[in-house]
Parts: sequence; C-alpha cells; structure tokens
Amino acid sequence: MDPLSRLANPARKVYRMLRGGAGGVPTALSPPALSTDDVAQRMRDDWNRRATENGRYYVQTERTVWPERDFFRSGEISVAKLVMSDMGRICGATRSPMDLSIIEIGCGAGRMTRMPARIFADVTGLDVSDEMVSQARSSTADLPNVRVLLGDGATLNALPTASYDLVFSFIVFQHIPSLAIIASYCNDAHRVLRPGGLFKFQVQGDTSVDDNSIDTWTGCPVSRSQARTLARDAGFVLEHEEGAGTQYYWLWFRKPLDNDRRGYRV
Ligand SMILES: C[S@@+](CC[C@H](N)C(=O)[O-])C[C@H]1O[C@@H](n2cnc3c(N)ncnc32)[C@H](O)[C@@H]1O
Repeated sequence: MDPLSRLANPARKVYRMLRGGAGGVPTALSPPALSTDDVAQRMRDDWNRRATENGRYYVQTERTVWPERDFFRSGEISVAKLVMSDMGRICGATRSPMDLSIIEIGCGAGRMTRMPARIFADVTGLDVSDEMVSQARSSTADLPNVRVLLGDGATLNALPTASYDLVFSFIVFQHIPSLAIIASYCNDAHRVLRPGGLFKFQVQGDTSVDDNSIDTWTGCPVSRSQARTLARDAGFVLEHEEGAGTQYYWLWFRKPLDNDRRGYRV
C-alpha cells in the first residue's frame, strides 16, 4: 500500500508548476496562510468528496474497486499487523485488552474499526469527514461497543479527559497539511489518555516532501527532531519510533504514569 504515491494529486502539480517546480522559491503565488478552521474545512470538503467518489479506494488505494468482504478483510489484516502484534506495549504486563478503551483517529469507512471491537472493551472512531463517518456508522451498526463521531479535524474535543488507554491512527496524519494540527492532536491525545496510556500513530517522515502547500492528500512531513518536540510539548515520552525518514514513520508516545506536568487528576 502506498497512499501517497499511487495517486497523483492534480492540485499539487498545479501548485508546483506555479511555484516553478518542487525546489522553487515561494513567491506571491504561494497559497495564503489559512487558519486552523479553514484547513479543517478544506480537509472535510476534500475527504467528503473522496468518500462520495470512491471511499474505499481513497481509504486503501491498493485496489480501485473493493468488494465489501475484501475491504473489511484488509482492515482485519491491518489490525493484526499493527495492533495485535503490539499488545505488549498496548496492554503492558498486567492489563487485558478486554478492559481497555480505544480511540481511532481517522477511522474512514470503518475498515479497521470492526476487529478491535472484538478485542477491546470499547472503540471510538472519529473522522473529519461526515461521509466517512456515515459509512463507518453503517459498517459498525451491529457492534454495540463501537461509536463513531464526527471530529473537528484538529482536536478530540468531544471526548472526556483521562478516559482512554490507546489512541491509534493509521495512514491519516500523512494527509494533514499542518504541523500545528498534528501538534493539536498530540496535545488532545495526551488529555484523553489515562496515565500510562499510549498514542500510536503514523506520520509522513519523508522531509523532502513539499510542506508549503495546503494539500489534504500529501500532508506535512515530520522530522525526527519535530517528533521529539511534538512528544515533549504535549507531555509524552517518545517510547519508540520506526521508519523515520519514510512516509510510514510510526511513533509511540507514552503518557507518563506519574509526574504528569499538566496536573490531570484521575
Ligand atoms: C487513507 S484514509 C484511512 C482510514 C483508516 N485509517 C483506514 O486505514 O482504513 C484517511 C482517513 O483520515 C481522515 N482524515 C483526514 N484528515 C483528518 C483529520 N484532520 N482528522 C480526522 N480524520 C482525518 C479521512 O477523512 C479519511 O477517512
């Protein structure tokens, strides 16, 4: 799977042309600075359009046409590889997954949401796109321990503080065109996690990617040093990382058990 290179983004090409190529110096033709709300609205509009056009393809670009069974099976395989194989970090030595509450940021059409519902106590999916939320609600309607929420694209505002054990996100942050929004999610993941909880997520680690365009397909890259700053500023410990410098840069941010500098009380 290669979410960023399998699909050429025409808007990005146009922008690059205007700039005089990828290495061009930004000029008056550079896009104007947008507020977080504006970027969130653009993410919502773009992902609504993608979800309506061919949601399953934009969620998982490995196939253009996804029979339902194969689409959800691909989600089960992703969960097996990315969640089940990591239960040691997720549960620690003593806890059972059956006691844990998890959040999936950018749940899309619910491809990866069904299987965790069989493993964890409850699963909250959240997505910036109303269309994706509607598809995910429909694909998880038979699962009483799943709820799917429409997010604002930058925070977990609808969710309570210190109430979750795992915040997980796969092939979502690569599409977010603003480091400030990624930082905002890190801050809020820290808020909603219980002490000791884990934020496991993937970002675009290839820093040669142009980060000047407001492009909701090819998002903003995160360097190793920026990853450290994101973790530290949000109050996390960077416990583990894999794939730095690639488009699949995994980060494991741990909320410390004690000396929580933000002083949340649980
Ligand atoms: C490539 S899909 C991946 C979906 C899901 N993680 C999966 O693997 O099946 C990216 C998803 O992230 C959502 N998304 C993009 N930007 C987001 C944001 N800022 N906040 C929440 N969701 C976002 C999109 O609407 C889309 O559903």
